[in-house]
Amino acid sequence: MHLLKSDAQTDRRGFFKKSLALIFGGVAALLPVAAAIRALTDPLRRKTAGGGAVRITSLDALLQDGVPRKFPVFASRTDAWNKFVNVPVGAVYLRRMSDGKVEALNVVCPHAGCFVDYSASRSEFVCPCHNSSFKLGGQIANPASPSPRALDSLPVEIRPDGSVWVTFQNFQAGRADKVPVA
Ligand code: FES
Repeated sequence: MHLLKSDAQTDRRGFFKKSLALIFGGVAALLPVAAAIRALTDPLRRKTAGGGAVRITSLDALLQDGVPRKFPVFASRTDAWNKFVNVPVGAVYLRRMSDGKVEALNVVCPHAGCFVDYSASRSEFVCPCHNSSFKLGGQIANPASPSPRALDSLPVEIRPDGSVWVTFQNFQAGRADKVPVA
């Protein structure tokens, strides 16, 4: 009887040892596979080079009348495999005030991502998709606008050579806070 109990304990210990060996062996076998998948997909997960300052135009090209003018934005993008030079990444409205200050707004409507138009007759931005409207400074004009936030303002820098640079960034649509798109 004593011998039988001892045999059963030995069998249980053996079973646990084999189970643990199988589990750790399986994990060890999966690690290289996971590393290979990670290496293959890394360029897809890697962020493109964005969010830096981009030259948009020269200061001379902007009348000091406070009227928004639309400019395309081109930038270089890289991933692990490719470098794309001067690809279109969006557009901005630039506005130069009488005091010389320049403001930049991303043209993308924060509601669902359509490009807003500038209406000269209304002196405001209007979204053609669901009719959000925005003041010249980007604030929501009509409280009934479905946009959850104002147009996204962007930092502007005037360089000594008279060129206008904007730190371009797209932001997630459909939310009240500005969350950069990776
Ligand atoms: Fe502009 Fe809906 S996308 S109002």
